[in-house]
Amino acid sequence: MGWVEQVRQKYRRDREAGTPSLILGIETSCDETSAAVVRDGQEVLSNVIASQIEIHQQFGGVVPEVASRRHVENVTPVVQQALDQANVGLEDLSAVAVTYGPGLVGALLVGVTAAKAIAFAKSIPLIGVHHIAGHIYANFLAGGLEPPLLALVVSGGHTELVYMPEHGQFEFLGRTRDDAAGEAYDKVARSMGLSYPGGPVIDKLAREGDPAKMVFPRAWLEEGSMDFSFSGLKSAVINTLHNAEQRGERLEPADVAAAFQASVLDVLIEKTVLAVRKTGVVNVAVAGGVAANRGLREQLQARAKQEGFSVLFPPISLCTDNAAMIAAAAYPFYRKGWFHHLDLNGYASLPLTEWQEGPFLKLHE
Ligand code: KG4
Ligand code: ZN
Repeated sequence: MGWVEQVRQKYRRDREAGTPSLILGIETSCDETSAAVVRDGQEVLSNVIASQIEIHQQFGGVVPEVASRRHVENVTPVVQQALDQANVGLEDLSAVAVTYGPGLVGALLVGVTAAKAIAFAKSIPLIGVHHIAGHIYANFLAGGLEPPLLALVVSGGHTELVYMPEHGQFEFLGRTRDDAAGEAYDKVARSMGLSYPGGPVIDKLAREGDPAKMVFPRAWLEEGSMDFSFSGLKSAVINTLHNAEQRGERLEPADVAAAFQASVLDVLIEKTVLAVRKTGVVNVAVAGGVAANRGLREQLQARAKQEGFSVLFPPISLCTDNAAMIAAAAYPFYRKGWFHHLDLNGYASLPLTEWQEGPFLKLHE
């Protein structure tokens, strides 16, 4: 019997038995090696994250080749720890889910290879997951959320407003035309001599500063546009720092951080409000590393209250890259019986819309 047939039988047996599903998630798209076990798409039994931040800090950003090598070293022990902490064995798993894009291709391949090896060895379904869908699904781990919803995706590689009519379906309303929000944080932090990743450091500094001490631009773009642009802001901050240095003036770093953050948040919040008004969708879920930003959490919540929509943020620990969110995003596909073949490959620029179309191995219908 071939692998597909074995997987089909396993899936039927598990669904007929009606026991809760246990999905192993694997995430290696950037600089965290992570594995998690999630029960029925919601209950996190384990979520192990081996961060490489310390290594990349020496370089001020992620070095792809170094990241891939670290993933190779980490992936097996991290998967084992996730299974141990969840108190399950490979034979207890219902499926294995893995990020296969977008991300650093060499890094993605490590997770994809590990997941395929497990799926093949144990004859269990394989579900390839889009990284951004994973970030959005971090919100479902808290429970109580159902589509339709709007997602504000703000990470190191992405800044997007996404409409999600149903599980596993996504439409873009707007996206960044240049830098991502997190990328702007990281680059501004670097130019201020702060450590990598810049987001958390600037977030903290901004709380001590006065945002009115200087004003940085806000890129609203054309009337009604839900797109973003952060490269002008980044350059404005860098120029301001540079000019001050040439004049021998000292700018208070906390004020620079506060003014920069105010500019980013204004745009993120106003474009989100615009998306709510235009679509009439009143549930907003924020996703990605920048969702950990305290200023964004407070100010968007306050604005949502005024405007009468609801906004959800994942717990801070689930905002940045982790495998629990990947297992959660795989769950609707598990329910449908839509899986991937063993020829799944890492895909550096995988579009969200391509992911939702497959190709899938449809075992259910
Ligand atoms: O989602 P993530 O872990 O990785 C990507 O998929 O990109 O996001 C990492 C990004 C980094 O740019 C980091 O600086 C930013 O999220 N970040 C923050 C905060 N925490 C992390 N940005 C602003 N405020 C924070 N508190
Ligand atoms: Zn991410």
